[in-house]
Order: sequence, then structure tokens, then C-alpha cells
Amino acid sequence: MIVGFENIGLAYEDGAEVLRSVNFSLDEGQFRFLTGPSGSGKTSLLKLIYLAHRPTRGRLTLFNNNVTEAARDDLPAMRRRIGVVFQEFRLLGHLTAYENVALPMRIAGVGQNQYREDVRELLNWVGLGDRMDASPQTLSGGEKQRVALARALVSKPDLILADEPTGNVDPAMGEKIMRLFIELNRLGSTVIIATHDLNLVKALGKPVMRLENGDLVDSTTPDPAAWRASG
Ligand SMILES: Nc1ncnc2c1ncn2[C@@H]1O[C@H](COP(=O)(O)OP(=O)(O)O)[C@@H](O)[C@H]1O
Ligand SMILES: [Mg+2]
Repeated sequence: MIVGFENIGLAYEDGAEVLRSVNFSLDEGQFRFLTGPSGSGKTSLLKLIYLAHRPTRGRLTLFNNNVTEAARDDLPAMRRRIGVVFQEFRLLGHLTAYENVALPMRIAGVGQNQYREDVRELLNWVGLGDRMDASPQTLSGGEKQRVALARALVSKPDLILADEPTGNVDPAMGEKIMRLFIELNRLGSTVIIATHDLNLVKALGKPVMRLENGDLVDSTTPDPAAWRASG
């Protein structure tokens, strides 16, 4: 099991539970959209998986490890298997776009010969082939988001978590980015994408989990053909 939630609850310091009793599991190679209104807990759920917060109750499994019981020292190794695209981009201002994307590989001690083409290919894919040497300060919000996306994916993580990855881009680029996630999923990564872009979700025909007031209310797979037919 790549991700397992059993009766997971999460409350922040101020009290009320943001996630109430969430149950789901994902096996290797599965894909899920996570939808729900603003404030329903999508970002909080992803942050639990990334181990940025600990659940206040329930049992969380990650890569077949019970995280709730795992030693703190075991968490970084799990985290390294996860590629995250969150809303804050956290690009390093003194590095170029290329260097930001390459950073996870450098940190992992991989030689540039082994990642140079992957970095270029990803930047090309997200439409930044001609901005590889640009400093993040000179990029638009949508461009920064795409650099962060490439950086999250360059290490071919076992699990990809994306929080509103198409929030700052036009619909054509949004669809392209979603197709990149689908391609990486086809190559073996497990993927969870939080988004409120229901048109895109419906068009892609992948399974959907929906949060409402902290509860996971259903899990369905839209039929793109039916959706297109209905206009
Ligand atoms: N760090 C935090 N401290 C306290 N409350 C938070 C924190 N982060 C999120 N919340 C609250 O948790 C609820 C769910 O937020 P969030 O997970 O960001 O939802 P979504 O991503 O679906 O919009 C909201 O009511 C939000 O105000
Ligand atoms: Mg959010």
C-alpha cells in the first residue's frame, strides 16, 4: 500500500477537526483527483501524506510503513520518495530555473550527465524551454509554478502530490500539465492531485475523491465521453 488512511482525524491548535474520519487507500500506480470546496481540507490531507503534519487520530500508512508509529528518523527517507507540488513554490532566487529543477538530483548526489536531459525535457514540456537560464524573480506566477512542478517530478518520485497544480495557468497549459501527471502515472508513479478544476477532472476520466466538511464523501470515475456529449 502506498498511502492508507484509517479513520484519520486532524485538528489544528484552535480546536475543531478539519478532517474528521477519512478512510481511503491507494496502491502502487493508482491515480486520484481530490476535489472539494475551498476549506474542505484538501491541502491538509496532502500535508498529512507529506508528513508536514501528524494526524491527531487514526492510522496513516505510507509505503507500507505505519507512520503513526514510525520513528522521527525514518520520516526523511519516506519523504524523499514523494514529489510535492504545493501552492508556495519555494524556488531559490539565486539559482536559475534549470538549477532549481536540477537541485533535488544534485542533493541526491547524482551526476549532471544523468539528469541534464531530464531537466531540459521537463522544462520544455512545461513550456519553459527558452527560460531555463532565467532567475525566478523574472518569471511570472504561472512560470514559477511550472518550474516548481518540474522540480517535483525530476527525481521520478514513487508518489506525486500536487495541490492545485493548474491554479495559475491557462486552460491549455492546465490540460498539458494534467497529461504530464497521467504520463508519469503510466510510468509507475502513484499520483494524488487536489484541484477544484472540475471541467479538467471530468475530461480526464480518472477516479475522484471528494472532501466535504472534512469527510471523504465519495469516490467516482467520471466518464469523459458522457461529459463531452452533455456539453
Ligand atoms: N495551519 C493551520 N492552522 C489552523 N487552521 C488551518 C491551518 N491550515 C488550514 N487550516 C484550516 O483548515 C481548514 C481546511 O483548510 P485546507 O486544508 O487548506 O482546505 P482546502 O485546501 O480544501 O481549501 C480551513 O478551515 C482552514 O482555515
Ligand atoms: Mg488548498
